[in-house]
Parts: sequence; C-alpha cells; structure tokens
Amino acid sequence: MKLPVKLIEPELTLFEKKFKEAVKSNAFMLDRIMQYVINRKGKQIRPMFVFLAAKLCGEVNESTYRAASLVEVLHTATLVHDDVVDDSLERRGFFSVYALWKNKVSVLVGDYLLAKGLLLSLDNNDFEILKYLSEAVRKMSEGELLQMEKSRSLNLDENIYLEIIQSKTASLLSSACAAGAWSVSGDKELSERMRQFGEKVGIAFQIKDDLFDYTSQDIGKPTGNDIKEKKLTLPLIYTLNNVDKKKRRELIYIIKNENTRKDKIAYIVEEVVKAGGIDYTIERMNRYKQEALSILHGFPPSEIRDGFEDLVNFVTDRKY
Ligand code: IPE
Ligand code: IPE
Ligand code: MG
Ligand code: MG
Repeated sequence: MKLPVKLIEPELTLFEKKFKEAVKSNAFMLDRIMQYVINRKGKQIRPMFVFLAAKLCGEVNESTYRAASLVEVLHTATLVHDDVVDDSLERRGFFSVYALWKNKVSVLVGDYLLAKGLLLSLDNNDFEILKYLSEAVRKMSEGELLQMEKSRSLNLDENIYLEIIQSKTASLLSSACAAGAWSVSGDKELSERMRQFGEKVGIAFQIKDDLFDYTSQDIGKPTGNDIKEKKLTLPLIYTLNNVDKKKRRELIYIIKNENTRKDKIAYIVEEVVKAGGIDYTIERMNRYKQEALSILHGFPPSEIRDGFEDLVNFVTDRKY
C-alpha cells in the first residue's frame, strides 16, 4: 500500500500553499480557527485525485490547482458541519471544531468555507468546475439528510445504504476526478469517464470508512460512533438481515435504547463479526474497487495510470 505522492509531489507542495491562501481571513476569530483547521490537515486524498485525473488527461494548469483547492475547501466545510451533525468530538487526531467552539461557530465556519470556495471559482470564471462541485455539495447535503431520516426509522436496506454513501461521499470524489480532467481537457466525454471512475472509488472509500467504525484502531476520530448515532452501515445491515428473529430483535433493542453504552456497542460489534458482516462488507468494497480499476484500465498504460492504481488500492487498504 503506497500513496503515489512522488508522481505529484511538486503539485501537492504548491497546492498546499494555494489552499492556505484560499481559506485566509482578515477577521481575527475566523483566521484563528482557520489556522487550527489547516494545522491539522487530513490525508488530502481528494486533491490527489484531482491532480492524477488531470495528469492522466493532459497537463496540470492553474485551473487544476483551483479545482484541487475548491475540492479540499468544500471537503473541509462538510467535515466541520458533519461533526455537529454526528455529535463527534474528535477529528484528525485532535478536538473537532465542534468540540472546541460548539454548534454556532461550526455552522458559520462551514458556511464561510463554502463561500470562499464559491468565490475562488467565480473570481476566475471556472464555471464548469464550479458546476461539477456544486452538484456534489447538493448531493452531499441530500445524502446526509437521507441518512438522518433513515437512522430514525432504522434503515435495513442495502440499496438505500448505497444511495446514502453515493450521495454523501462518492459525489465529491467523482466531481474531483471530473474537475481534474475538465481543467486540462475541456472534454465532456473524458470528464464523464473520470467521474464514473471517481464514483466507484468514492463508494469503496466510504465503505472502508464505515468498516473503521467496527474496529478499535486509532484512526484520529471516534470509532463506534455510527452505532451511537443509530447509523446502520453495511456490516450491521447485513447482520440484521441474516441473523435469526430473536437475535435481530435483541440487536435492534440495543440500537434503539442502549446505543450510548460502550459495552453494548462492543457486543454489537462482536455479533457483526460473528455473523460475517465484516467479511461481506469487505467483499462488497472490493467489488467497487475492481469496477473502478476496470474503468481506469480503459486508459492507455502509463506511469500516471499506475500511480492512480496505487491510490485506489490505498483507499481500501489504508489504516486511517
Ligand atoms: C472523511 O474523509 C469523511 C468521509 C467521507 C468518510 P477523509 O478520510 O478523507 O478525511 P481527512 O480529510 O483525511 O481527514
Ligand atoms: C461522511 O460520513 C461525512 C461526509 C460526507 C461529510 P461520516 O460521518 O461517516 O464521516 P466521518 O466518519 O465523520 O469522517
Ligand atoms: Mg461523521
Ligand atoms: Mg464515518
């Protein structure tokens, strides 16, 4: 498992500078919070997708950099909001913005980042890229709301689960790939191919994230949080649909009434493992990865394509 950072090292270095510039504020409090957010950067996997998609389809240019910044700005905004929605106190190994500054500030910081992203594109007439990414933000909001609705009624349907993760996560990754391709080619068909590739990777990415919730690894954010929030993800959906009635009733009772008890969450994890929920989920994740790779293999072999393949493998094999 290796990240193909070498192939895009100069781009990533310059990106980081431009990204910091893009979220700067003259307002004292915002600037302080932005410093906090920037100093705890994540994997920056989405900008990597932008640059690799661009390099696979042409030559990186200024609008590629803006696309990468826009994607990471939007991602950051949604994480700030997501931790409010999920009542989550840890992000990237530190306190979340929500934990330190609470609801009101988090809502406004997320909005600020969204607006900065919009302006970055509009100031440079990147209309097509902004369209790709606005579509993603719309879908992300729909996905998070659908998830909320389904956590109230306890969703047990795998197709609805897929719809949720496609909306809340794959939409941004697919737009990142499309925007990268568009920035260098202006070619609709090529960008659409990259979008489809990104969508498959994005689904695998979120399935992997959901698997983390069933481990006790240190991933820089809480585990067991999905059960606490009554988010039924694939391991649990599979389990509930494949155990006997009595066990199912018992598990549902815990999710509804004892979902904040650590020992009960541990018990659910145990039952999911026993029922084969983890194995099934890994198998599904790998299927999406293979679909992504087969789209990628439609492009002629190159060093960049190999690097892209490493990045796809990283998505499913990563430890954080
Ligand atoms: C977290 O994304 C949100 C999901 C879509 C699961 P990342 O795992 O890419 O978060 P960072 O940016 O590396 O922290
Ligand atoms: C992804 O879902 C969140 C967004 C798409 C904003 P999660 O809620 O599972 O992400 P984490 O686990 O908090 O990073
Ligand atoms: Mg969350
Ligand atoms: Mg998660």
